[in-house]
Amino acid sequence: MHYQHNFIPTISDEDVFNHIAAQRESVGYYNLVHQDTSAFKEYASKVKQNNIVVIGIGGSTLGTYAIYKFLKHSKNLDKKLFFLETTDPIDIKSKLKRVEDLQDTLFIIISKSGTTIETVSIFKYINSLVKCDEHNTVVVTESDSKLNQYAVANGLRNFEIPKNVGGRFSVFSAVGLLPLAIVGIDIDELLDGAKKVYNSFFEQKEAYERVLKKARFFVECKDSFNINVVFSYSSRLEGFNKWYIQLWGESLGKVDRNATRQGLTPIGIIGPIDQHSFLQLIVEGRRDKTVTVIKVEDFASSLKIPKIGLQGLEELDYIDEIEFSALINKQADATIESIQNLGDIPCDVMTIDSVNERSIASLMYEYELLTSVCAEFMYINAYDQPGVEAGKIILKQKLKEGK
Ligand code: PA5
Repeated sequence: MHYQHNFIPTISDEDVFNHIAAQRESVGYYNLVHQDTSAFKEYASKVKQNNIVVIGIGGSTLGTYAIYKFLKHSKNLDKKLFFLETTDPIDIKSKLKRVEDLQDTLFIIISKSGTTIETVSIFKYINSLVKCDEHNTVVVTESDSKLNQYAVANGLRNFEIPKNVGGRFSVFSAVGLLPLAIVGIDIDELLDGAKKVYNSFFEQKEAYERVLKKARFFVECKDSFNINVVFSYSSRLEGFNKWYIQLWGESLGKVDRNATRQGLTPIGIIGPIDQHSFLQLIVEGRRDKTVTVIKVEDFASSLKIPKIGLQGLEELDYIDEIEFSALINKQADATIESIQNLGDIPCDVMTIDSVNERSIASLMYEYELLTSVCAEFMYINAYDQPGVEAGKIILKQKLKEGK
């Protein structure tokens, strides 16, 4: 028999792993865990300003925001970090009001392409308020971008985003490490957390098992369970949820090599708040969702419900003296149990150790790997974003034509 085919059959775990391992030659984010951080730390040690304002959007800010939001109340940071991302004029004004003293502010302009309208518009506006020069402005961009040319022409310090590191995979490059080092977050600890997952994945240990198993399930069952809900049981993970939505949506919504449209729909919700809203849809709604619950084992907080009698509410006195950290974790367990009791909703639980650099970095790096592995299973390119670029081009055209 002579046999020909024009379709590509399902890929094996072994082939996925080999492709990912080989990608380390061409896709830059994998190896960021091995980089030398001394240039970031050296620059950070010389920053005098107390306010740090990052100007950027999408992959140029979301990862940094995720880490900062997670850690800022658990560390004694002596500088404040702000993000100017949106062109909403009310938001720009109100954020700048919170910055208070623009003379005591360092501006970090971050854009891989260097010509993103949101970023350049806001930077122009800042230029109308303060003189931006080598004393208060630093640039993070690709080595041959127009923004880099601007930095060189104006004597501004510039840090490079490697060409092969995509925006939404760039948090462990200068994009995230520079601002985070400046505000006092331990960037070596971040990289150590990510490296632990890197080693475990590439040495085919626990992370490899988890990631491959989960990605295969998500991709094989995506026609039934197309929505992946991340249910984070800590308000500090709100930034992580946003970053996850970008990473998942922008990387996996693609046309595959069989010319079929692919995608998994990310949703990020926060426990216990969304236990009182979205959970209803999970429990009784259509069976089209997987649920990943993220728990924090140790909040390093002894805040307790005090033993205070409230007249008429004595029946709830059993909550007296319970620590809030134990309460939130019990709430997560109750949600997990209620979902698992149903028996027909795919659910997994990721528990990170604590509110520290290693934990958040290992979670984020594992999600980057999971995204890459899902993309391999789907035969798509996780690292481009033609859909996002198309909108950018139309916007520029409209603005040029004054439409
Ligand atoms: O992940 C991506 O590629 C995008 O979200 C970009 O980060 C975003 O569009 C901003 O682009 P740039 O960094 O070029 O300003």
